Amino acid sequence: MCGTCHTPHTSSGTQDRAHYLEGAPLWLNPTMPISDWPLRAPRLAGQPSGTDAEVVTLLTTGIWKDGKPLRAPMPQFRMTKEDAEAVVAYLRSLSNAVGQ
Ligand code: HEC
Repeated sequence: MCGTCHTPHTSSGTQDRAHYLEGAPLWLNPTMPISDWPLRAPRLAGQPSGTDAEVVTLLTTGIWKDGKPLRAPMPQFRMTKEDAEAVVAYLRSLSNAVGQ
């Protein structure tokens, strides 16, 4: 599900597999204006911006490294620690090089 937001879409509307989880402009917009709506879902492939422990905390509690939840529409996940660690290991395994 992460790719829905964190992967760019091609002109035909499908996820661009060549840039899987490399970050993307958000295509979702609120129907009512919300101040502070994010414009991008950041890159996850290779090196999410937090440490492994910070990303595990985010995925198990919904709290990011600044002690606050991320902005919508980033879902607030409540994964088990095992699932969160598996997701982090997967993200780290993806290529870190831009354009690969
Ligand atoms: C519905 C869209 C959506 C989905 C689905 C989604 N995200 Fe996000 N994610 C976002 C947005 C938007 C942000 C930026 C939030 C902000 O700036 O406050 C974000 C931010 C993040 C960040 C912080 C990255 C940084 O550099 O600040 C991480 C880590 C993250 N998401 C991981 C995930 C993972 C892992 C999944 C799947 C299990 C996922 N996200 C699914 C929209 C989404």
